Amino acid sequence: MDSGIGGLPYYHHFHKANPEETLVCLADREYFPYGSKDRPELILRLTELLNRLRRRYDPKLGVLACNTASISALQPLRESFPDLPLVGTVPAVKLAVLASKKRHIGVLGTSRTIGDPYIAELTAEFGADCALTAIAAPDLVEFVEHRYAESDAQERLAAVLPYINQFRSAGVDAIVLGCTHFFFLQDVFKAAAWDMSIHDSLDGVSHRVEALLDQGDLRAEAGGRENILFITGKGSPEPVWQERARAFGLTLRTEQDYCS
Ligand code: DGL
Repeated sequence: MDSGIGGLPYYHHFHKANPEETLVCLADREYFPYGSKDRPELILRLTELLNRLRRRYDPKLGVLACNTASISALQPLRESFPDLPLVGTVPAVKLAVLASKKRHIGVLGTSRTIGDPYIAELTAEFGADCALTAIAAPDLVEFVEHRYAESDAQERLAAVLPYINQFRSAGVDAIVLGCTHFFFLQDVFKAAAWDMSIHDSLDGVSHRVEALLDQGDLRAEAGGRENILFITGKGSPEPVWQERARAFGLTLRTEQDYCS
């Protein structure tokens, strides 16, 4: 689950290693962006979506492939769905702390994520001697969701450079991509922030899902069925959703598919 296309790299990463598992990626297009919503709103929305997913697909495990949703709602969702194992996405602060030689990490996320005390708590937990520069980048989330597909290399670089420059002048040498949308710009970050390391939680989330499948003896036995990209919202989807589904090998489903 994510507010938009941020869940797709997580889907892809997990699917490559576990092709026998069937996946449904939910993109909450109707409610995008999550970063500007407050915690109670997100808890309500995600509870409602999980109920919808359970009615339609009855999943054996759920992944919040969204830092904002995880930081805001993972705990209450676990309490509301005690029989459904749920994996959250935690910004890769631990990896950045391990990599930082200057002992100064940067976290880039949504306004909701950056405004939450959790990021400072994580940094203190894993790197008590590490300084933290945390920057909210709602425009970068919008860029990835709405502009990325038709943008060229120059535009992508222009979108990330202001953030890299802020981190560089603050003395940061390890950046956490603390929003799943930013993974689409990972290569741009790596090239432009040549003097810093870039960290994400793709491996962490995939490995956690695999561990829970093993622990619960939940692995699929046969080959995976059709993998689905389910998008919320009324009205026909913008053509770009069809392209995204095709690019990731997913079958697109909309609300209308369940009303007819
Ligand atoms: N992709 C999301 C995250 O990881 C949230 C983007 C948004 O909807 O604001 O935080």
